Amino acid sequence: MTREEAHKKILWGAATAAYQVEGAAFCDGKGKNSWDEYYELNDLGYDGTVAVDHYHRVEEDLKLFHEIGLQGYRFSVSWSRILPEGTGKINPKGLEFYDYIVDSLNAYGIEPYLTLYHWDLPLPLLKKGGWLNPEVIENFLEYCRILFEHFKSRVRLWATINEPASEVMEGYIQGTHPPQEKNYAHAIQVSHHYNVASASAIRLFREMKMEGKIGIVLNPMPVDILEETEENKQAKEIAYEYFSDWYIRSALIGEYPQRMLEFCKKTYSAPEIREEELALMKENIGDYLGVNYYMRRVVKAEKLDSPDIEEKFSYVRVPGGNYTKWGWEIYPYGIANLLKQIYNEYGKKEIIISENGIGFDDCMDENGYFADDERIAYLKQHTDIIEELCTQGIDITGYYVWSAIDLLSWTNGYQKRYGLVGVDFDTMNRSIKKSGEWYRKFIRQE
Ligand code: BG6
Repeated sequence: MTREEAHKKILWGAATAAYQVEGAAFCDGKGKNSWDEYYELNDLGYDGTVAVDHYHRVEEDLKLFHEIGLQGYRFSVSWSRILPEGTGKINPKGLEFYDYIVDSLNAYGIEPYLTLYHWDLPLPLLKKGGWLNPEVIENFLEYCRILFEHFKSRVRLWATINEPASEVMEGYIQGTHPPQEKNYAHAIQVSHHYNVASASAIRLFREMKMEGKIGIVLNPMPVDILEETEENKQAKEIAYEYFSDWYIRSALIGEYPQRMLEFCKKTYSAPEIREEELALMKENIGDYLGVNYYMRRVVKAEKLDSPDIEEKFSYVRVPGGNYTKWGWEIYPYGIANLLKQIYNEYGKKEIIISENGIGFDDCMDENGYFADDERIAYLKQHTDIIEELCTQGIDITGYYVWSAIDLLSWTNGYQKRYGLVGVDFDTMNRSIKKSGEWYRKFIRQE
């Protein structure tokens, strides 16, 4: 495949998630969710009550996405807008909002890519144990069925769950996302429930004879070491299994990495896995693998015998490395290394790069314009590698810039911007950034 063919094959889009853009947290019948409560409990100086008010400005936002020339738009549905209690009574206003999004996108010729779950769990379900309680899987399926029926044939690209690894680590190990626990046994059990929930949604999608494709979205990170010692090599393997392969392997072949599984069972007595759950995971592999790529991890060995996985290794800052203000390394080759490793281990699979982008505090000038040259440089490097990988036989069919518009960064607030469209947070005025203009030309190959 030539570069030109690769460019044409890939659907070039951008992404957001409901809680990060919508606001309207208490409008039109939406129920409270885990993040509404999180910001009430933690005084961070920002929250998602208004976010970028996408709920009320959706018409303008979609028009701007069309002006940029996006071919695809990935967004998530807020479960608590559809089912305020998490289960039971449907809120018609919620469905209307997403009808508007889906119908407008289709009218613009932008492919809607719908994520069923991007971290905002209805609060009543969190109070019943959240993702630790296996009953949530049935609740999730009830919600999925509503959306499948409602959007059948209008949405052809679906994601089950966004980045279970982030939610497991930040929600249950580091305590920085809801429900703010620090408990490995719970974390590992929750990771299994996410996998079972995703496989069950995929099964339902197929039972309902839905048109199009469905898959899970992961954030696997390639892991490197600087010094090739025996200990560091071990640390690298442990870190990769923990961050990445635990989720890749279950998504692609319905199994867990054996060594990590044995360690978790012995050390945390988790996860509890039922035979039929494993069979379900094996039989319901997604049509594609969604990969959110931001950075690699560089580690070195620490207490390799520790019962605490995160004590076994530590992160290393690469001398001369290129880092954002938030400490994220800009390392475009990581995506190539990662996808090659996945292909080596599991063979060919359709890949969608469901998020890729850079968060930094780009500033608006006096005319309301964002000249975000750093973002352009970042996107150029990454899209270049993506096309190149395609020519080398990696089956990449979509690429989504994170994010379509500036939005709420869960634990960094509004100063860490990601958008192709900039938002003036005082007035809520929008404008296409220089990176949005660049992306338009890139998509059209002008
Ligand atoms: C991804 C998430 O992990 O990273 C997004 O899917 C998130 O929801 C993005 O916003 C960037 O992370 P952060 O912490 O910089 O907002």
